[in-house]
Amino acid sequence: MKILSIVGARPNFMKVAPLHRAFSKHPEIESKIIHTGQHYDAKMSDVFFNQLELPKPDYFLGVGGGSHTQQTAKIMIEFEQVMLAEKPDIVLVVGDVNSTIACAMVAVKEHVPVVHVEAGLRSGDRRMPEEINRIMTDGISDDLFVTENAGIENLKKESIPDEKVHFVGNVMIDSLVYYREKASTLNLLEGLNLESKSYVLVTMHRPSNVDFAEGLRNILDIIKDTASRTKVLFPVHPRTLKNMETFGLLDELKSIQNVTLMEPQGYLEFLYLMENAQLIVTDSGGIQEETTYLKVPCITFRASTERPVTVEMGTNYLLSDLNPDSVKELVIEILDGKSKEGETPPLWDGHAAERIAEILLKKYAKKTS
Ligand code: UD1
Repeated sequence: MKILSIVGARPNFMKVAPLHRAFSKHPEIESKIIHTGQHYDAKMSDVFFNQLELPKPDYFLGVGGGSHTQQTAKIMIEFEQVMLAEKPDIVLVVGDVNSTIACAMVAVKEHVPVVHVEAGLRSGDRRMPEEINRIMTDGISDDLFVTENAGIENLKKESIPDEKVHFVGNVMIDSLVYYREKASTLNLLEGLNLESKSYVLVTMHRPSNVDFAEGLRNILDIIKDTASRTKVLFPVHPRTLKNMETFGLLDELKSIQNVTLMEPQGYLEFLYLMENAQLIVTDSGGIQEETTYLKVPCITFRASTERPVTVEMGTNYLLSDLNPDSVKELVIEILDGKSKEGETPPLWDGHAAERIAEILLKKYAKKTS
């Protein structure tokens, strides 16, 4: 049984790594990795392959940059060639990036089963490119692996047949569980002149926050206020860096006292920085889940979340009014030690990828061997 797993952008690598590891334990499965090249900088891609012990991809499609349409279309054209050469039994896609929907569409047109890992998440906000990618990928997938209960409910509402939907836990948490100890042996704080639980970690990259001047201003405002109370670490995503420069705000960002700007961090480094942070302020999807597992308070600066379990059970706060003043107030409370305890969501136990391997073997191995 040959499975082609697709990776493209940074949040895909830590999801596919545990799947590839689980597949490799079964001699019946031939696991190949296709990297679309959506993210191409060493800091956004190569470092993850090394740290997550992923083998060199079997194919690298080199499709980075361009508009969403150009990116998606180029990935489809290149991936079709891989499909024709490899003739896989299954195409596995993860998450919600452009590479996810592009490769899922090609597979469906070649009549090859599509497996979507991290299915069913919905923010309800169709202006997010990721939301469209999620809806479309789920609509054409044969098996949908879900991380939280809301995912099951969402898929029911969209009339996806129950037998296609499997609640298995969270493969991104598999990676966290697997690498947590290794990350904890890093010693980055000393070099940064920081102590554990004495800084706020910030990440921002969503187009709805960073693609226009007012959004970038809000971020600057939040960072300035936070930095007047404690130290701030800000690894800057390429999109955010580019836009800060375009809108003439980069010098202002650089001049804020108490803020350390960093390049995008490797997987282990970022895990270490999350675990030691007192609070994280972010607009990321995955970080909401990682902080919930780590029980580190997280403020999500977005209008909606597709991961409601992190708010309902975990340590995540959604500040959907997008008012920087609300963030500032909450930052003060949390720095004062008033934050919720949080619980670990069901099945976030480090074994999701193994469950997925078992289910796929049961369903597809007989048909294809
Ligand atoms: C993509 C995903 C998003 C994910 C994020 C994590 C989609 C629709 N979005 O957003 O869900 O949370 O990755 O990082 O797929 N760039 C570089 N170097 C790189 C990668 C990108 O300079 O290695 C530049 C691109 O040229 C572009 C910008 O950063 O100008 C954005 O990259 P893109 O892949 O379009 O989307 P992200 O914002 O990274």
